[in-house]
Amino acid sequence: MTTSATSETPLIEVKPALNIAGLAVGYGGVPAVRDLNAHVRAGEILALLGPNGAGKTTTLLASVGALPALSGTITALGEPLDRRVEANARRGIILVPDSRGVFHRLSVDDNLRLARRKHGPSVDDVFDYFPALRSMRSRRCGTLSGGEQQMLALAKALLCAPKILLVDELSLGLSPIAVEGLLPRLRQIADDQHMAVVLVEQHIELALSIADTAVVLHHGRSVMSGSATELRGRRDMVEAAYFGSVEEPSGDRTGVPERQ
Ligand SMILES: Nc1ncnc2c1ncn2[C@@H]1O[C@H](COP(=O)(O)OP(=O)(O)OP(=O)(O)O)[C@@H](O)[C@H]1O
Ligand SMILES: [Mg+2]
Repeated sequence: MTTSATSETPLIEVKPALNIAGLAVGYGGVPAVRDLNAHVRAGEILALLGPNGAGKTTTLLASVGALPALSGTITALGEPLDRRVEANARRGIILVPDSRGVFHRLSVDDNLRLARRKHGPSVDDVFDYFPALRSMRSRRCGTLSGGEQQMLALAKALLCAPKILLVDELSLGLSPIAVEGLLPRLRQIADDQHMAVVLVEQHIELALSIADTAVVLHHGRSVMSGSATELRGRRDMVEAAYFGSVEEPSGDRTGVPERQ
């Protein structure tokens, strides 16, 4: 079963793969994200939206254990998040950073070989999602286009057999056409692999078109959250939330907030 944006609410409540509750996280003891509640289930995509500096990357870093929570909790795959990134990665909590995390001097093949795990998927398995990479195996990664490098970054992440995949600005520096090609691939992966995905994305419409749920952050706080379908129907509110003109009511964290 796939849990797409259009599917009906499941009869059985499925526990979130990743659950963020009352999270405060930041730098040097100063919170950049405050009182954040968000969750994503296996097979679902949560879009984390918001303007520059809103706290999206900070939230992803906390979700893989790279930044310690100042308060609140993060539960991943039924257990509290480990404080060590490597331990979380071994459990399948994998971040694709906005810097892409590819080695420019190495070939595509070598990049993939380095990411491969003993009992994880094969390179051929991940080529099924990104067939264009097959013909580039011997090319130095630095010679690939931005979109091809992003495919490689995602392919590397898939080799780690993620159960929770966190993707930071896949579209950074890419043309809209390249983004339009990549994001549906992510939807397919989430569906096929029953993978929970947290997607940070600046292309709001595209992100909402493949996501199940979304949270809009502004100045480190959630100012809007709900189903992607709801948010797509309220683009005016989403844009207002980007500018901080709406505030999420504290009682209801799942619906579209009322205009303040
Ligand atoms: N290493 C750091 N030290 C101190 N402050 C930081 C650090 N990294 C980020 N910040 C601050 O934390 C806040 C949130 O930053 P973050 O990178 O999470 O935003 P973002 O939503 O990912 O923005 P963008 O869309 O520009 O990537 C910002 O005010 C930023 O200046
Ligand atoms: Mg960022």
